[in-house]
Amino acid sequence: MLKKIILVVAIVTTMFAQSESTFPSDWKSYESVSTPLAIIGSLPDCNADVSSLPLIYQETVSTYCAVKSGGPGAVAVLVNKIGEESFTKRNGNYPDGAVFILHLKDLKVLFVTTYKDNKPLYSIYTEDGTDASNAVGSGLNPNDCRTCHTGYSAFCINGQCATKK
Ligand code: HEC
Repeated sequence: MLKKIILVVAIVTTMFAQSESTFPSDWKSYESVSTPLAIIGSLPDCNADVSSLPLIYQETVSTYCAVKSGGPGAVAVLVNKIGEESFTKRNGNYPDGAVFILHLKDLKVLFVTTYKDNKPLYSIYTEDGTDASNAVGSGLNPNDCRTCHTGYSAFCINGQCATKK
């Protein structure tokens, strides 16, 4: 009985995993920018020694290193034109709309930060627009994004973690 309840809860949780904003179909027009992670160029597998990196990067690697063998692989950080000034100034003020994308190039997945009334919303889509969000704790749930992006307040400003390099 308990097992059944746990199963039902798990299924329902997965069903309600949902990206918080619509797919940014114009994502290919966003500009690829230089950030610490973009300079590294990829997310490694779980054997990588990342002990010299800031804690938030270590946690990012441990969250995603096991998604496939060899790690998530190539990444790029993309910024929508409407958000370029905010990105550069890092002032915590963002226009409404999809502003940032962490492009997991090898996985063909987009991690999207959209702003509404200057509050960040998190979404996970495949490159062709399928909602790829998953259960809480999978790393692919908007709440998981929010936990990390707000949990390092000395590092991330109103949802923006990357700094222009
Ligand atoms: C454990 C921490 C962590 C988790 C979980 C996480 N991120 Fe991030 N994210 C980061 C860090 C650190 C960067 C900055 C990397 C860089 O460019 O140097 C970043 C960068 C980004 C960027 C580029 C703009 C920015 O804010 O710097 C986007 C977009 C993004 N993440 C979206 C997401 C989404 C969507 C999720 C959930 C599916 C997510 N992130 C989960 C830590 C995390």
